[in-house]
Amino acid sequence: MPPFYITTPIYYVNDRPHIGHCYTTLLADVAARFQRLVRGSTPTGTPPAGTADLPSVFFLTGTDEHADKVVTSAAEHGVSPQQWADQNAAEFKRAFEFIGSSHDDFIRTTEPRHRDRVAVYLAALLASGDVYRGEYTGWYDEGQEEYVTENAAREAGFKSTISGKPLVKRTEPCYFFRLSKYQDELRGLIERDEFRVAPDSRKSEVLGRLRPPAVLNDVPISRPVTSDPATQWGIRIPGDPAHRVYVWIDALFNYLSTVDTPARRPLWPASVHLIGKDILWFHSVIWPALLLALSRSGRDWAWVALPRLVFGHGWWVSEGQKMSKSLGNFIDLERLRAYAARFGIDALRWYLVTQGPLSGADADFSHAKFVEVYNADLANGIGNCASRVGNMIEKYFGGVLPPIPSAPPPEAARLRDGALISAAIDSLARVELGEASAAGARLVRAVDEFISATSPFKLAKDLANLPAVGDILYTCAESLRIASLLLAPAMPTKMADLWQRWNCAPPPGVPLAELAKWGGPHALKPGTRIEKGDPLFMRADPAEPAPT
Ligand code: MSP
Repeated sequence: MPPFYITTPIYYVNDRPHIGHCYTTLLADVAARFQRLVRGSTPTGTPPAGTADLPSVFFLTGTDEHADKVVTSAAEHGVSPQQWADQNAAEFKRAFEFIGSSHDDFIRTTEPRHRDRVAVYLAALLASGDVYRGEYTGWYDEGQEEYVTENAAREAGFKSTISGKPLVKRTEPCYFFRLSKYQDELRGLIERDEFRVAPDSRKSEVLGRLRPPAVLNDVPISRPVTSDPATQWGIRIPGDPAHRVYVWIDALFNYLSTVDTPARRPLWPASVHLIGKDILWFHSVIWPALLLALSRSGRDWAWVALPRLVFGHGWWVSEGQKMSKSLGNFIDLERLRAYAARFGIDALRWYLVTQGPLSGADADFSHAKFVEVYNADLANGIGNCASRVGNMIEKYFGGVLPPIPSAPPPEAARLRDGALISAAIDSLARVELGEASAAGARLVRAVDEFISATSPFKLAKDLANLPAVGDILYTCAESLRIASLLLAPAMPTKMADLWQRWNCAPPPGVPLAELAKWGGPHALKPGTRIEKGDPLFMRADPAEPAPT
């Protein structure tokens, strides 16, 4: 199995972390935890010392620090750009610790390990001629720090589509990337799924912009350095320090620079670049074109293959409205912390992962929906089912797990057949992380239905039925153990809690297919103490006000 290398966008250090940033990193975390589970690799990777120790799953997140805005904000706060970047990068690290991210590395683009590699990549592209010096005139969106094409500028009335501020006309000497050379090749690669862009709606969107009559122009990738301090922040063009690398080009290279060491190189190409829909063009066109160019810039670069998949999720909106600074309705970190304090971090993770805008339309963060999903899937779902089973084992068997049934009840067939495990693994392969997690919730519901169909509490009224009751309860507990494996990537803390109570923590190094064999070598052991404990999730009152 090739290594699984997943990335998130690297976040601008100028913003304070909010739901959008936490969401992409959380999705990548769930994907990484699932992949570790499937492969039986260690729970979190540590930066590998040598190739032999290379984790088979590698999860990267980080911060994008060379934007011009960093210089202006730093000045406003009376600190140096580097200090400003340090402070804000630390905020992102704290935010990701709060959401329970298990990333293997956190890259900051101001680190020498990144800056040095970007200079090397550009030197190779300059030598091959795919980066060349010219002059650029165009419409510039100062807020977004990007040029807008003549057509797009006209359509938008020469105003920023994001901030509404007027675009400015700029002419400057500039280095260009020969993007035009790669248009046809990229179109073919995406059409044939040799370079996958998902979901399908995003693939069509990109292809629409690559097919004739669309024509790709070469893109400017540098900005001039002047006496203005704002222009001195960034990585210089090798051999021409009067120019610095445009922040987006610098940023995209993080995915490569982080693993471009002798020990980590086998991790390339990335398996999945998880991104938001707004940065699809950079990731599905500019980035692969840069990589194609680099891979052909000399024999030493032939290993630079294209990433396997770019996956663009939708956006969160808040109570039905787009989040914006002017409306002041961002679901910020404080709000997320308030939800975690009230419902637990795993409940928040569950809501974001299963109800988020992963595969298409935007999703609404609504308090009413949060409570509905919390009660249905968690309090009345896994929480209640685990309590019921634990209570009955306590009541009828003194808290000791009964024997494995010699002939399992016929109603148990659906619990034992492993179909939901295969479904979860299939969903995972399509990066449908909400679906993969929901397979666990479905198994819990099947256990509930099994209890209703077999009525152990009624049977137990007659002592002669105790062996049958034991068969039912073992079946329930073992099925819940398997469900807990599928729920663990989204809810690692609560499931670890359950494993501790039920003495069934999965041993490291065993792949999911083995762990999840019903009644297999890792099944619950009869005679194990099953501790009831408090409910994993207390029911929530929908009338209670939203936490703030
Ligand atoms: N720095 C660039 C990315 C460079 S990657 C080589 C950037 N940073 S960002 O901080 O502005 O945004 C990072 C990610 O957050 C994007 O994927 C964006 O889609 C995501 N989100 C920002 N707001 C969001 C929502 N409201 N909802 C979901 N995700 C959103 O762009």
